Amino acid sequence: MNRAETALINSPPRRWLQRLYEVPVLLRFGGRLLPGSRALEIGCGSGYGSQLVLQRFGAERIDALDLDPAMIRRARGRLASYGDRVHLVHGSATDLRAALNADDGSYDAVFDFGIIHHIPDWRAAVAEAARVLAPGGRFYFEEVTAHALNRPTYRRLFDHPTDDRFTADQFLQELRRHGLLILGSVTRIQGDYLLGVAAKPLPAAGAR
Ligand SMILES: C[S@@+](CC[C@H](N)C(=O)[O-])C[C@H]1O[C@@H](n2cnc3c(N)ncnc32)[C@H](O)[C@@H]1O
Repeated sequence: MNRAETALINSPPRRWLQRLYEVPVLLRFGGRLLPGSRALEIGCGSGYGSQLVLQRFGAERIDALDLDPAMIRRARGRLASYGDRVHLVHGSATDLRAALNADDGSYDAVFDFGIIHHIPDWRAAVAEAARVLAPGGRFYFEEVTAHALNRPTYRRLFDHPTDDRFTADQFLQELRRHGLLILGSVTRIQGDYLLGVAAKPLPAAGAR
């Protein structure tokens, strides 16, 4: 993430948007987590999203990772008061075994606040999010499409991978390819952003 995006992401307007618009939309689609839930935030940045996951979604514990060690340091400062309810690590969302030793089905919820479009192999990040979700677990996502990334302002100001970016439909199709079911509808904003929640189905009764 370049300086311009780091400043924008951590600015008060972005935080208001996240807290007052994105969180209510995601709560409407996916609801709060059950008591005792264990969550993961991929690409946690400075930790504001993880704080919202604890406070507003009701996670008991959260593991959060970021590729940028400077972000992990900032998140550590922000989240210190939560003690051992928070576990922060430096690592990639494309390999959660290496970063967190995360087995299949380890989390009740995975949160993606605008990170997967940053990852060259974005499909690997989707595959990992789906793998580590427990049956019945939920994937809460807020993403940026190729349409937005191709806008002249985005290209001039920010630094994103340019090859193989996704449309909203391609992103949703990739979730379905990994067995995740979209809950209710998906909010799409001008073809540029999408917000929604997908669930990993519980095994059929006879298969349990
Ligand atoms: C646009 S910022 C969003 C940060 C945070 N989720 C928020 O909403 O404030 C994208 C973040 O993803 C991180 N990131 C990029 N590639 C990553 C990867 N492969 N694994 C984990 N984090 C990654 C960046 O370091 C950056 O902190």
